[in-house]
Amino acid sequence: MAKAKTYYFCQECGYQSSSWLGKCPECGKWNTFAEEVVKAASAPLASSRGQMAASQPKLIRDVTYSETVRIPTRCGEFDRVLGGGIVPGSLILIGGEPGIGKSTLLLQTALSVPDRKILYVSGEESEQQIKMRADRVEQNQTTQCFVVSETVTQRIFEHIDSVQPDLLIVDSIQTVSSEQIDSPAGSVSQIRECTTELQQYAKRTGVPILIVGHITKDGTLAGPKVMEHIVDAVLQFEGDRNYGFRMLRALKNRFGSTAEIGIFEMQGSGLREVANPSEFLLSQRDETLSGAAVAATLEGARPMFIEVQSLVSSAVYGTPQRNATGFDLRRMSMLLAVLEKRCGFKLGAKDVFLNIAGGIRVADPALDLAVVSAILSSNVDMAVSPRYCFAAEMGLSGEIRPVARVEQRIAEADRLGFEKIFISKYNAKAIDKKRYGIQIVEVSVIEEAFRALFA
Ligand code: TYD
Ligand code: MG
Repeated sequence: MAKAKTYYFCQECGYQSSSWLGKCPECGKWNTFAEEVVKAASAPLASSRGQMAASQPKLIRDVTYSETVRIPTRCGEFDRVLGGGIVPGSLILIGGEPGIGKSTLLLQTALSVPDRKILYVSGEESEQQIKMRADRVEQNQTTQCFVVSETVTQRIFEHIDSVQPDLLIVDSIQTVSSEQIDSPAGSVSQIRECTTELQQYAKRTGVPILIVGHITKDGTLAGPKVMEHIVDAVLQFEGDRNYGFRMLRALKNRFGSTAEIGIFEMQGSGLREVANPSEFLLSQRDETLSGAAVAATLEGARPMFIEVQSLVSSAVYGTPQRNATGFDLRRMSMLLAVLEKRCGFKLGAKDVFLNIAGGIRVADPALDLAVVSAILSSNVDMAVSPRYCFAAEMGLSGEIRPVARVEQRIAEADRLGFEKIFISKYNAKAIDKKRYGIQIVEVSVIEEAFRALFA
């Protein structure tokens, strides 16, 4: 019998200490330490499963490999984020808040991969519940997808031995536990141990594994911080639960770019791929309504046109209200201060509300000009044409600054049939305007944009 040892782990970041600490020296959080019993196994942990083949140092020019054949999932958006399919032997973590749709995404993926044996292990739902979900998403169920409800890794490996899958899905890492360790499922040492066991299995057999991990309210992967180093790719599934829009983003990807995002819409019958997010996000708005402007943003490598809506009204109470949904409130305050200085916008006397349509959150600085235009439009109560779009950042002195990859934005605006795109003068220099049918409006300071729109 191996000797049991007790350690204290920070449940936020996985920091290990031999005594209890009030504050984690690693991540600075308070009251995050929990006691966990770790059996000091006579052999190194997890070594009972799969020894790596002994390898010899080689000269790099002598190392050969065959172009790895990726497993396409038949879900275009998922493949795009992965970089063209699942690499054999890889370990992929899919993080997201509870209820966002991770299980749905993976079950749909499992049901759409052709000609492969798939084992879907769920620690959260029974086989009947998985079946109900499968019926709901209306996918073809003739594929070779096995489901099992199981939480102990040792037994999961037994199921694997009997099914011999080509792809394994584990939903979720917080619910599985290893008999090697005494701590409860979901604790840092369990997560680390189970991930390591799964990783060794994947590397030994070449069977890729998709692992679901829940994230905490503040948006970090709970416990899974310790997994991030072990896995080959970390994908985050995010969106506002009150809206249907979902984004799959790669935070780390050893076999592809992290700039790609996948876009889905959650419907009554499962997730639908959204190939053209701009058409999805732009409302068919009335030309005469003030307070809205379209931003030509880029999310990763993908152009996305979103509508910014604003409402400016006289403040009823002494302190004006400021509210922003989907946009950084501090950034909005800064933009308002610039407007006050440069455009005679009486900041102190107005309530300002800002809303990004579709419940999405974008951090692209190119949103600035659309935000400012929407606010000014509501303030003067004059509409900005829905056929105009904006792609520029605004500086502290009201200068309109260039943004990255402006040509891609212009090309997309052109394709979507916009009439005009407003960009920074400094961006315009390098552009061959004759290539586009869209009219490109160059502005260098915010006053110019104001005059061009409302004069
Ligand atoms: P789920 O995949 O269980 O989320 P997670 O595994 O990330 O916790 O999906 C949760 C939500 O998705 C659930 O509240 C209901 C909704 N949903 C639909 O709207 N349509 C569907 O077809 C399915 C299966 C779920
Ligand atoms: Mg789930």
